[in-house]
Amino acid sequence: MAREDAMTRPAVVIDNGTGWTKMGFARNVRPSHVIPTCVAANGATTSGKMMDDLDVAIGREAMALSASREVRWPIRHGTVENWEDMERFWQASVCRYLRCDPEDHYFLLTEPPLNPPENREYTAEIFFESFNVPGLYIGVQAALALAASIASKKQSQYASALTGTVIDIGDGVTHIIPVSDGYVLGSSIKSVPLAGRDLTTFVQYLMRERGEKIPPEDAMEVARKVKEDHCYVCKDMVKEFLAHERKPGEHVVQINGTRGKTGEKWSADVGYERFLAPEVFFNPEIYSSDYITPLPELVHQAIASSPIDTRRNLYGNIVLSGGSTMFKGFGKRIKRDVKRLVDERIAATTKGGTLTSKEVDVEVVTHNFQRTAVWFGGSVLASTPGFYSSCVSKADYEEHGANIVRQNPVFRGI
Ligand SMILES: Nc1ncnc2c1ncn2[C@@H]1O[C@H](COP(=O)(O)OP(=O)(O)OP(=O)(O)O)[C@@H](O)[C@H]1O
Ligand SMILES: [Mg+2]
Repeated sequence: MAREDAMTRPAVVIDNGTGWTKMGFARNVRPSHVIPTCVAANGATTSGKMMDDLDVAIGREAMALSASREVRWPIRHGTVENWEDMERFWQASVCRYLRCDPEDHYFLLTEPPLNPPENREYTAEIFFESFNVPGLYIGVQAALALAASIASKKQSQYASALTGTVIDIGDGVTHIIPVSDGYVLGSSIKSVPLAGRDLTTFVQYLMRERGEKIPPEDAMEVARKVKEDHCYVCKDMVKEFLAHERKPGEHVVQINGTRGKTGEKWSADVGYERFLAPEVFFNPEIYSSDYITPLPELVHQAIASSPIDTRRNLYGNIVLSGGSTMFKGFGKRIKRDVKRLVDERIAATTKGGTLTSKEVDVEVVTHNFQRTAVWFGGSVLASTPGFYSSCVSKADYEEHGANIVRQNPVFRGI
């Protein structure tokens, strides 16, 4: 396949997350497949022999085999940790889900902020040497999420050429990433290993403590559904408690299920966990003793440590990305709490003096593509005419070696 032919085909876009992989072809609005980022090894691997790649199950198929096989998750807190499994996962994703020949397509992959350069090199080795792709672009997730908000036409008036603060909360990690003119402001990034998976664990814990009768083998999956379908961000935790106590009938929802093994029916109440789970972001001490800084405070710190001339635009264009930002009320609460912190700071610096400071606007952008914002941003970027020439080509790779992917050219084509 000539390189020019590959340029006429849509690029493959894959966003591998700790919990979920989003994959599909550029020019689409949504990924064609969203599957768990896991691999089921067969018996041979656990006894030390190589697994036959045809025998690799990934995603939901892998999870369905958990009774007989070891299920492994190659990404932890956003970063690839098991490269052999990751390669198997990519291989199966391309051949069995996207059903394309990797030699025929350019690829856009994503990486977390501050990804070690060696990880980019390992990725390039796999894609150029094992899969023989004609070209590769590895985009930073935050920059892609910003591109998505611009493409969704929902950016605030402050959004200018890829400037904004991205709050990306997925399954395994929370990142706050100030981006100025397409450049990630690396030293201002805040990162916390608390995210959606912890919220699921918390829901499960709260329901178990209350004695809800959920079959233990389904408890995690039920907790995830409860979190995604019934949780919301409240305005004030204490007031919300009182409201639940006063009128439980208005706040408690009942869920029902059937036990897979026996067909027995069960039902359970969902109450305080509806607002307590996402409250972990705002009052983290209710869940963790290690990470106790509230998310709005982290956002404020990240922006306050960025160059002074960027701050106004960073406060004015806070962009949400990742499945765990989808809770009802999340954007409003972030906006209110960050605004309070900014106002307090302004009041403290001007107090007692003649100094006055201009009000700072805080805007939080929410849009329909939050769950797959990174993927959508990748799809948009890979659909622009400048994309192919921004990629590292196979010829570049062969001439310069894996070193060439240590840095991507900054892409400004949107
Ligand atoms: N509607 C929803 N409300 C709340 N949480 C949700 C919703 N939909 C999905 N989630 C949660 O979002 C998480 C998955 O989000 P996402 O796909 O962005 O994560 P990821 O990319 O796999 O992880 P990471 O970015 O941390 O590596 C899961 O914890 C999932 O339960
Ligand atoms: Mg992610």
